[in-house]
Amino acid sequence: MLDNKAPKQLKNIALSALEETYTPYSHFPVGAALLTNSNEVFKGINIENVSFGLTNCAERTAIFSAIAQGHRKFKGLVISGRTQKPITPCGACRQVMVEFFEPDMLIWLINNKGDEILTNVESLMPGSFKSLN
Ligand code: THU
Repeated sequence: MLDNKAPKQLKNIALSALEETYTPYSHFPVGAALLTNSNEVFKGINIENVSFGLTNCAERTAIFSAIAQGHRKFKGLVISGRTQKPITPCGACRQVMVEFFEPDMLIWLINNKGDEILTNVESLMPGSFKSLN
């Protein structure tokens, strides 16, 4: 079962992803590791573009990769950065999390110094837009 501490394997994948980002413009690497209900892990990195707005964040890379492979149920997500404090996801990624994750799904925000914060989708995106009705 998952507890307050991020699963070590998931954390290691999110941290090693920091070495694989495509970040020639910002030089700000972000990594992610998404655990499916069937215990598969999808890695994410930020992928930048010379047309800056086309950049894809690490969390969304992980989520879209898993969704493209047919996964729809998830247990946990780790997001990593080389930041002073644990990294915090952007608004666009929070809205994508709302689309695919249960409100109580566990999300660990970490840095490469060993700090981590456990949160969930509802805490990151309260009162979110969820329905066209
Ligand atoms: N970035 C992410 O990958 N995830 C976030 O939640 C915040 C921002 C990336 C986008 C860009 O490549 C770099 O960080 C600087 O904004």
